[in-house]
Amino acid sequence: MTRSLWLDTTQGTARREPPLPATADVVVLGAGIAGLTTAYLLAEAGRSVLVLEAGEIGGGVTGHTTAKVTAQHELIYHRLGPAAARYGGSQLAALEWIAATAAAKGIDCDLERTDSHVHTTDPGQLPTLRAEAAAAVAAGLPAEFVAGIEPPLGAVGAVRFRDQAQFHPRKWLLGLAALTEAADGRIIEGVRATGLQEGSPSIVRTTAGAVRAAEVVVATHYPVFDRGLFFARLEPTRDLVVAGPATRTVTGTYLDARTHHSVRGVPTPDGQQVIVGGEHYRVGDHVDVTARFARLEAWAREHVGMTEVRYRWSAHDLSTVDSVPYVGRYHPRARHLWVATGFGQWGMTGGTAAGLLLRDLVVGNDNEYQDLYDPNRFSLRAAAGLVTANATVAKFLAGDHLRALNAAGLGDLPPGEATVTRQGTSMVAAYRDESGALHAVRAHCTHLGCLVAFNNAERTWDCPCHGSRFDVDGQVIQGPAVHPLRPVNGKEQR
Ligand code: FES
Repeated sequence: MTRSLWLDTTQGTARREPPLPATADVVVLGAGIAGLTTAYLLAEAGRSVLVLEAGEIGGGVTGHTTAKVTAQHELIYHRLGPAAARYGGSQLAALEWIAATAAAKGIDCDLERTDSHVHTTDPGQLPTLRAEAAAAVAAGLPAEFVAGIEPPLGAVGAVRFRDQAQFHPRKWLLGLAALTEAADGRIIEGVRATGLQEGSPSIVRTTAGAVRAAEVVVATHYPVFDRGLFFARLEPTRDLVVAGPATRTVTGTYLDARTHHSVRGVPTPDGQQVIVGGEHYRVGDHVDVTARFARLEAWAREHVGMTEVRYRWSAHDLSTVDSVPYVGRYHPRARHLWVATGFGQWGMTGGTAAGLLLRDLVVGNDNEYQDLYDPNRFSLRAAAGLVTANATVAKFLAGDHLRALNAAGLGDLPPGEATVTRQGTSMVAAYRDESGALHAVRAHCTHLGCLVAFNNAERTWDCPCHGSRFDVDGQVIQGPAVHPLRPVNGKEQR
């Protein structure tokens, strides 16, 4: 099974339980880095803040990242043109805010300043890396091109950003949660938002009742309440991650621009371990995740001398059409509904920058990055991406139905296997566990109806269209879906 090192190496805190208050100045949905940064800053600004988290603090995407805290976001700067300096400035400001806040407030989150690298193993990509280094320098960032890195990782060249950082993301979030509560904010775990009535005030419906709020911030990674057509403007991908002791010491952070292998070290009570990410794929693609973990482990043994795999998990990312996150008004007419999403692989600085921006937007301050991150910017390029995204969804809908029609019946399903098949007029997603018990649910995703696909390493049903994920009994692990997959045989699930 999979388990994140971050979740395994932090003490569980006492569950923050309902009941919900009837009202709050601001309801923040999601206790990841974007949500908790926003919540803390608004609580500190004097707002009454309520944070609602469907799972546990940091249990979603922030607890499954590789936690590089850097303004170096793959090879973005040579593509951003005139926006490069403002984008880089906002991300560096986020990094420095984390460092300053951790120091000032005494948050022990294993923060280390370290160099960040994006390298390549392909000589044909070197001109692009040189262009990226030049664009980053022109944007005022501490960048340079270097011929080699240590560990070598097969690199033929790299862009280095000096004095970036890495940390333990869940320790950071627990620190932010404590700061939020010290500023009279409330955080409640295990409560999922199920509906929203926009207005003055807005009404947020949840699994634990309704709450009225003057302002609502949606920081649920994939935005629930899909009234901004985000499902057509975000691409969900996953990277697999393994961690364990290794013979090589790793002090910087590394990302291969061609293969997407990433490497960083991490201090643990048992000594340094190394985190290796890779095997990038689109959520719901019909890939053998178990085989991909095996390939990643082989890569880690070869390149950093990983001697044992102690943790396996996967990171879930959402990319925007132009690689710049969507932070601001949820839709063009929204006045009191805000969103932060689309951080790609760079949610540590991206989510923090989002919190700093949303604080200003909600309290009515000017912010120089407002238009850069405006979710409602709409360029020709964005329109082209939207068409591509929807064409991909259409392909998944057609392809998956054909695949399901050809699947074998449930009676033949061996233990540990899963299938999507037709049962009468219904499409059924079925998994037989090791004890022989069958877990069968409707196969249509409760977001917009695509057919889910089985992830054999994590034993989840993943939706190929917009990235929702469900456990084998249909419960939502990851949105945008907010309702479970429907049970078969009329049995209601909880
Ligand atoms: Fe949109 Fe499943 S996530 S249809």
